[in-house]
Amino acid sequence: MKAVQVSKAGGEFEVVERPLPEPGPGQVRVKVEACGICHSDAFVKDGAFPGIEYPRVPGHEVIGRVDALGPGVDAFSAGQRVGVGWHGGHCFRCEACRAGDFVNCSNAQIAGVSYDGGYAEYMVAPAEALARVPDALDSAEAAPLLCAGITTFNALRNAGARAGDTVAVLGIGGLGHLAVQYARKMGMRTVALSHGPAKEALARELGAHDYIDTSAGDPAEALQALGGARIILSTAPNSAAISAVVGGLGRDGCLLVVGVDGAPIEVAPLQLIPGRHSVGGWPSGTPKDSEDTLDFSARFDVLPRIETYPLEQAAEAYDRMLGNQARFRVVLTMGG
Ligand SMILES: NC(=O)c1ccc[n+]([C@@H]2O[C@H](COP(=O)([O-])OP(=O)(O)OC[C@H]3O[C@@H](n4cnc5c(N)ncnc54)[C@H](OP(=O)(O)O)[C@@H]3O)[C@@H](O)[C@H]2O)c1
Ligand SMILES: [Zn+2]
Repeated sequence: MKAVQVSKAGGEFEVVERPLPEPGPGQVRVKVEACGICHSDAFVKDGAFPGIEYPRVPGHEVIGRVDALGPGVDAFSAGQRVGVGWHGGHCFRCEACRAGDFVNCSNAQIAGVSYDGGYAEYMVAPAEALARVPDALDSAEAAPLLCAGITTFNALRNAGARAGDTVAVLGIGGLGHLAVQYARKMGMRTVALSHGPAKEALARELGAHDYIDTSAGDPAEALQALGGARIILSTAPNSAAISAVVGGLGRDGCLLVVGVDGAPIEVAPLQLIPGRHSVGGWPSGTPKDSEDTLDFSARFDVLPRIETYPLEQAAEAYDRMLGNQARFRVVLTMGG
């Protein structure tokens, strides 16, 4: 099979031929149809995540069809369409799993990080990592929902906002452009924040009621002028940009961080205390959360805007994401 691997931390993407992987007990081989390129694939490319063994095939926004079942797998059948996201498996035995908190499994695996992912014609994943995919969704359009979608959908639906509340989305990229659509479809007054004027028309098309260009003035003041945000969902991978919006929270407001940067976020205690503000984070979710995301997206017509590239052009496709040029998610497609 053809695959795209990174052979060392900081290495380039290499198109290689590999033997077809065999599913072991409890595992499923998936014939990949599409795989989104998430900003978190940079962890694999750059080696910024602990414990990655190289060479590694990245990719955790995977849609494909069940191709072969390992011993003991009875929950899926050959030919069934499935998705694989960031949450790549759990042990069922640790304290977190016994409490039903699979995301915090002590032995959690990450697709495309702990084992080879979806930048390939085939991949093998544990059966508990698979989500069922509604027929209504096209594979290339469904792929980004497995990480960009679930992360923003699940963060927003658990954030405690009510219909009519103001939800601001910081960073209108792969995650952000879906977050804008989810917030709008969940009944929120939706504000898009982007560092420049370029994305205004698209953000409004996606459902934003208001648009704030964070480079044009103080974004916190601009949010306060709209009444303050109940939730600021931050997808921007930049802590300075995140710190700049904390002052835009309204009463009981929460800054909910999903975008990753190594630098600390700066928040003064008095930015939090009077308005009962909080700062939190959100990881993606379980395969069941993925199924909820896919079902909601199909029913409420939330689809990513995608640019498709053949697998062999993964390097070029990745650069479009990294350079903030993609509108809004780049998806690798595997042909047949
Ligand atoms: N918590 C989780 O489970 C989870 C899941 C998936 C991804 N992530 C993380 O979420 C982040 C976003 O991922 P993505 O795939 O959506 O990335 P993306 O497509 O590259 O979008 C990121 C957006 O952030 C803004 N941005 C980029 N660089 C910036 C800078 N230097 N300063 C201010 N804003 C900047 C840009 O939006 P504007 O041009 O509109 O400003 C850009 O479009 C990444 O850090 C990724 O690792 C986390
Ligand atoms: Zn991701």
